[in-house]
Amino acid sequence: MQHPGLRLAILIIAGLSLAKAVEVEVHGKDNKTCIYAVLSVNFTVHYEGNGTMENTTFWLPNSLSSNGSICGGNNSAPLLKMDFGTGHSLSLNFTHSAGEFSGDVLIFTYNVSDAELFPGAKNKSVKHVAVNSLMEPAPLNTIYTCRSVKAIESEAVVMVFWNVSIQAFVENGTIGKNESFCKADMPTTVAPITTITTPTVTPIPTKPPPELPEVGNYTVKNGSDPCLLANMGLQLNITYTENKVFFFPYIPFQFALQLDNKLFLPQTHLVNIDSNSTASGHCGDNDATLVLEDMDTTIQFHFTVDQSKFFLKEVKVNISLVINGSTTAFNSNNSNLKFWQAFVGSSYMCHKEQSIVVTEQLVINTFNIWVQPFEVKNGTFSRAEYCKTNEKYIVPIAVGAALGAIILIVLVIYIIGRRQNHSDGYEQF
Ligand SMILES: *[C@@H]1O[C@H](CO)[C@@H](O)[C@H](O)[C@H]1NC(C)=O
Ligand SMILES: *[C@@H]1O[C@H](CO)[C@@H](O)[C@H](O)[C@H]1NC(C)=O
Ligand SMILES: *[C@@H]1O[C@H](CO)[C@@H](O)[C@H](O)[C@H]1NC(C)=O
Ligand SMILES: *[C@@H]1O[C@H](CO)[C@@H](O)[C@H](O)[C@H]1NC(C)=O
Ligand SMILES: *[C@@H]1O[C@H](CO)[C@@H](O)[C@H](O)[C@H]1NC(C)=O
Ligand SMILES: *[C@@H]1O[C@H](CO)[C@@H](O)[C@H](O)[C@H]1NC(C)=O
Ligand SMILES: *[C@@H]1O[C@H](CO)[C@@H](O)[C@H](O)[C@H]1NC(C)=O
Ligand SMILES: *[C@@H]1O[C@H](CO)[C@@H](O)[C@H](O)[C@H]1NC(C)=O
Ligand SMILES: *[C@@H]1O[C@H](CO)[C@@H](O)[C@H](O)[C@H]1NC(C)=O
Ligand SMILES: *[C@@H]1O[C@H](CO)[C@@H](O)[C@H](O)[C@H]1NC(C)=O
Ligand SMILES: *[C@@H]1O[C@H](CO)[C@@H](O)[C@H](O)[C@H]1NC(C)=O
Ligand SMILES: *[C@@H]1O[C@H](CO)[C@@H](O)[C@H](O)[C@H]1NC(C)=O
Repeated sequence: MQHPGLRLAILIIAGLSLAKAVEVEVHGKDNKTCIYAVLSVNFTVHYEGNGTMENTTFWLPNSLSSNGSICGGNNSAPLLKMDFGTGHSLSLNFTHSAGEFSGDVLIFTYNVSDAELFPGAKNKSVKHVAVNSLMEPAPLNTIYTCRSVKAIESEAVVMVFWNVSIQAFVENGTIGKNESFCKADMPTTVAPITTITTPTVTPIPTKPPPELPEVGNYTVKNGSDPCLLANMGLQLNITYTENKVFFFPYIPFQFALQLDNKLFLPQTHLVNIDSNSTASGHCGDNDATLVLEDMDTTIQFHFTVDQSKFFLKEVKVNISLVINGSTTAFNSNNSNLKFWQAFVGSSYMCHKEQSIVVTEQLVINTFNIWVQPFEVKNGTFSRAEYCKTNEKYIVPIAVGAALGAIILIVLVIYIIGRRQNHSDGYEQF
């Protein structure tokens, strides 16, 4: 059964390092990609030979045809069908509901009369095995990714999958930029939301160096139901200039920097947020707030939703620091941020350190963040979307901002200094 207008799939050998990885793209009538898959599979089949039981093992080859695939429409589910060799095929159809798609039934068909793969087979027939546990549901417009090895055993067949990436219901022919990782790829133990029994992996205990903040588990409740979850370690990096600078106001700044630039360098102060800080806030459909408070510090995180994705939009920090014996209040606010973005219904996770530049004066370093501000079900995190690996560009911005601040401060001091020179003369010295 050939689907009319379906274009022949493209098969690409994904380079030597990914030998055995098969890439398949299924195109619809309009030439747009509707199903995309990369996967590596090997099959072991137990069959009856001449008087003995035999085992045969083979890979899913790169030379396959996805002619039998279907993009899906009103009355038909999308189907990825990979025909290979002499009458063998592997197929998977897809369903979607509640903004998520998943694989439905995986069918492996093998033709025992293929003497090359089944030498000496006695019963020359075509057999099928069907299972429905290849992939977990993933948000639409993301690529479901599972690098871990997964073995599926059914009747006389063992199928071993690894390096799997699949997206069905591809919108506008554009493959999603974000990946949804399978549970097995998650580095930490995740409280399973579904009842699939997966072996529990004990996380390797990592003792952070003392100067890193402890990870706090913060919860905002709506009545008695948790509606916002945030596990993270927070560190404030506050930059300020010492008052001392003002005692040397008349020195032209270039000269000063060359003579003793230490005087003009801003001081930084690191404050680790107590993991016992109290959490409060509110949850809405499109807005949510998390407020963390301890004795001297209040941090407010404001999340919002845009096009079914949430992100951190605003941060407000009020902190009192004792500097040189006197208490100084720092208030910083930025409502133009875009951090921690993920689909509503999922959570955002990042094990890397991130730096959120709130103002030139205040940067928040975050550690091991796992946050879900919307649609928390049963008080547990939903599937996590990971941070991208290239979010480090923040650092150059921070450095640039700090440098800009230094120059500005020095200029101001210089101008003030010149004015004071005219009125006060040199008697300060
Ligand atoms: C589909 O793409 C092929 C080449 O990639 C082109 O020859 C063909 O005209 C396209 N068909 C449509 C309907 O756009
Ligand atoms: C099939 O793949 C698994 C996972 O990579 C591997 O352990 C196994 O040795 C493979 N079997 C064969 C026969 O290559
Ligand atoms: C099966 O094995 C027997 C003895 O081992 C041999 O005589 C016979 O020719 C074999 N049949 C086939 C079809 O290979
Ligand atoms: C075939 O595989 C099964 C399990 O995978 C194993 O127990 C058996 O020994 C194998 N038989 C042969 C002939 O390799
Ligand atoms: C796939 O279908 C096209 C025409 O739709 C045909 O030319 C081609 O031979 C088919 N490929 C295979 C492997 O069946
Ligand atoms: C599918 O549904 C849409 C609207 O729901 C309709 O416009 C379209 O004609 C339908 N297509 C088929 C093949 O029934
Ligand atoms: C997927 O295929 C299986 C077997 O052909 C069928 O029973 C099932 O209904 C299909 N799923 C969907 C969503 O069409
Ligand atoms: C697909 O196109 C429509 C209209 O151009 C747009 O609204 C939508 O956001 C696009 N979806 C994706 C995933 O790019
Ligand atoms: C915080 O949550 C993480 C993951 O859910 C858990 O491993 C950890 O034990 C929790 N910490 C505290 C102090 O409850
Ligand atoms: C704190 O900020 C200063 C200036 O931006 C920077 O040089 C320093 O590396 C930062 N320290 C940490 C621990 O982030
Ligand atoms: C948090 O509170 C618990 C119990 O009140 C205490 O044992 C722990 O030391 C506190 N942690 C910090 C970082 O203050
Ligand atoms: C929520 O928890 C209850 C009891 O703990 C359980 O019966 C229910 O299935 C859970 N729901 C989900 C969506 O995990």
